[in-house]
Amino acid sequence: MKQILVTGGTGYIGSHTAVELQHKSYEVIVADNLSNSSLDVLDGIEQITGKRPLFEQIDFAKDQACRDFFAKYPNIEAIIHFAAYKAVGESMEQPIKYYRNNLLGLMNILEAMSHHGIKHLVFSSSATVYGQPELLPASEKAPFQPATSPYGNTKQISEEIIQDCLQADPQLSAIALRYFNPIGAHASALIGELPLGVPNNLVPFITQTAIGIRGKLKVFGTDYNTPDGTAIRDYIHVVDLAKAHVYAIERLLNNQFQTPFEFFNLGTGKGRSVLEIIQCFERVSGVKLPYELVGRRPGDVEQVWADTELANRVLGWSAQSSLEETLLSAWNWEKNYRAKNQ
Ligand code: UFG
Repeated sequence: MKQILVTGGTGYIGSHTAVELQHKSYEVIVADNLSNSSLDVLDGIEQITGKRPLFEQIDFAKDQACRDFFAKYPNIEAIIHFAAYKAVGESMEQPIKYYRNNLLGLMNILEAMSHHGIKHLVFSSSATVYGQPELLPASEKAPFQPATSPYGNTKQISEEIIQDCLQADPQLSAIALRYFNPIGAHASALIGELPLGVPNNLVPFITQTAIGIRGKLKVFGTDYNTPDGTAIRDYIHVVDLAKAHVYAIERLLNNQFQTPFEFFNLGTGKGRSVLEIIQCFERVSGVKLPYELVGRRPGDVEQVWADTELANRVLGWSAQSSLEETLLSAWNWEKNYRAKNQ
C-alpha cells in the first residue's frame, strides 16, 4: 500500500480526496491543524470507506513541527497539499496571515520533500490565477492576471515557488490542479462543506438559506455582460474534483508526466449564472429560495469557465456529475448535518 500524505485532509476537498484515495487502496495520512475543520470528519471518512485514515494534528507553517512530522513518517510516497487558508475577503483584511500560512506551509513541505526523497507533489491551485481571462473558456495557457486578493496571490506565488524548487531538485515532480468552483458533497451526505460563520460562497449560502439559517440570499450583481446579467462560474462536483487528485497522483507515481511541473484545470467546461444555480437548486430541492438582487460584490470577475481539454486528454479525467445531482448532494448534506447537529 502506497502511503499518501493529505495535508488539510479534514477540510472540504481534502476529506473527499482522502475517501477516493482509500477507495483505491492507498494508505492515507490526514494531517490538519483543525483551524477550519473538525475531527468528526474522520468519522465520516471511516463510515464511507470502512477505514479510518491515520491522523496528525499539525501546522506545516511551523518549521520544527514540520521536521518532526516527516521524521515520524518516513514512508510517504507523495503529498497532496491542500492545507491553506481560502477566504478571499479575510485575506484582504489579514494579508500577512495568508502569506505566512499558505507560503510557509508550502515551503516547509517542499524542503522536507527534498530532504526525505519524497518525489511527488499535487498542489491545490485555483482558477483565481486567471482573473478575468481575455478568452473563454480559460485554458492553462491563459496568462496570470494580477491577483485581486492576497489569497489569489498566494496561489500564484505558490506555483512559482514550486517551479523554482523543481528546477533546483531534478528528483521532484508536481502537478498543480487549478480548481474552478467546487460545490456539492459526498453522496452519502456523511462529509461535505462546513463553512464557519456566514458563508461567503454561493452554494453554502443557498443551502443555509433553504434550511432557514439565513433569511435571504443576496444575488451580487445583475448588470454583468452575461445573458441574464448575473455572474458566470464553472461549478464542479467536489467528488469529481477529488477523483482528479487520484488521477494526478497516479500520473506522478507512474512517471507518466511530460514535464516535471504540469498544470490542469478542474472544471466542467460549462459556465452557469447565479440565477441558473438558484433555479436549478429550487427545482431539485423543491424549496423556494428567498433572494434579492443587489449590487456587485467587489473583486468578483464577470465570467469564467474552464477549458477542460487538457485534463480530459492528458490526465484522462473528466467531470461526470450533472449540476442537478451536484446541487442535490449539497442539499442532502445540509439537511443531514443539521438533523444530526440540532
Ligand atoms: N454570490 C452571490 N451571493 C452570495 C455568494 C456568492 O451572488 O451570497 C455570487 C458571487 O458574486 C459570484 C458567484 O456567486 O458571482 C460565485 O461566488 P462564490 O463566492 O461561490 O465563488 P467565487 O467564484 O467568488 O470564488 C471561488 C472560490 C475562491 C476563488 C475564486 C476565484 O471560492 O476560492 O473562486 O477563482 F478564489
